[in-house]
Amino acid sequence: MNIKANVSLLALNTLALPGRAEFFCRVSTNDELAEGLSYARAEQLPVTILGGGSNVVLAGDIAGLVVQIATCGIERRQQNDDSQRIHWTAAAGENWHQFVQHTLAEKSYGLENLSLIPGLVGAAPIQNIGAYGLELSDRFVSLVALEIATGNAVNFSKSDCKFGYRDSVFKQGAAGQFVVTSVTVALSERANVDIRYPALAAALAGESPEALNPQQVSAAVCRIRQQKLPDPAVQPNAGSFFKNPVLSNEQWQQLQAEYPQLPGYPQPDGTIKLPAAWLIDQAGWKGAEGQGCGVHREHALVLINSGACSGQQLLQLAGDIVVDIEQRFGILLVIEPQVFGSPV
Ligand code: EPU
Repeated sequence: MNIKANVSLLALNTLALPGRAEFFCRVSTNDELAEGLSYARAEQLPVTILGGGSNVVLAGDIAGLVVQIATCGIERRQQNDDSQRIHWTAAAGENWHQFVQHTLAEKSYGLENLSLIPGLVGAAPIQNIGAYGLELSDRFVSLVALEIATGNAVNFSKSDCKFGYRDSVFKQGAAGQFVVTSVTVALSERANVDIRYPALAAALAGESPEALNPQQVSAAVCRIRQQKLPDPAVQPNAGSFFKNPVLSNEQWQQLQAEYPQLPGYPQPDGTIKLPAAWLIDQAGWKGAEGQGCGVHREHALVLINSGACSGQQLLQLAGDIVVDIEQRFGILLVIEPQVFGSPV
């Protein structure tokens, strides 16, 4: 394991924001990770974990040790019962989409709606990744994480993780305390496709769920994502920049009386989730440009770094949008990616 000082992180975050790690190491095994953590403990350095950098806003330089996870390995375990369930465990450094494709190729079904989500396996539970009607928590069994303060391996069950919409204990009470090393999901040998999400149903119009296989659903999800979401290699971005707000039914009806076109997705607990993209789009921000960053032309929820902006400039744009949406609709948007580092 090689610890370097003063390393640029520009190529390691999909928003291509500038920022440097005071110290940096890339770990390919869990032993190297443990070694890096014990070095940080000995030197009293704060630790920041970087996965694929696809859900991160670099506000500036990061003090302490930045650890990039590059571990690999995927394991399949048939359950010894008649549930036709198969447990798959992937190392934190595996690419999420490649893991999904691997399970599909091995005829294990259940992750198809989460195809093409950028980032690594280890980051997936942190924000409970979700798309097209499915969240990681729907398939999640357990994870193993190292406690940064002690280096001890800790097993987290699904309830330990306290999953919510784009949320988990790792963004709340346990924030900054653990490094995920592997994630286990339960999949099925039986295909059971779910194409109820409107955009997915529309993309597969005319097809009945019974006639579709999970690979076709995965391909449709990939097509939608490629059409709607910009490729970070071409237009640096971090996917959705804000969470979709969740309102009580009463709040939603009040707003809908004022804006009859307001979309809303009823949630199992009676609340209504509404697309932040719609609010931002209505407010006229779509395609807005300035200070080297802007709002994507095709999707109002995606902010892009269009001209070598800084994290501060991007966060300024996000802040302007938050203020405007609150003034117009009385709704406070919350930033979805994690913000790392402090301004220089
Ligand atoms: N819409 C607009 N203008 C736009 C884009 C969308 O008005 O420019 C409205 C439309 O009414 C559309 C609705 O917003 O029907 C929803 O749009 P979309 O289906 O693209 O989904 P989203 O709510 O914007 C969420 C997730 C995405 C996920 C998709 C599909 C969040 C914060 N985002 O986006 O996740 O891929 O649903 O399930 O929940 C991510 O987290 O980075 C991400 C891309």
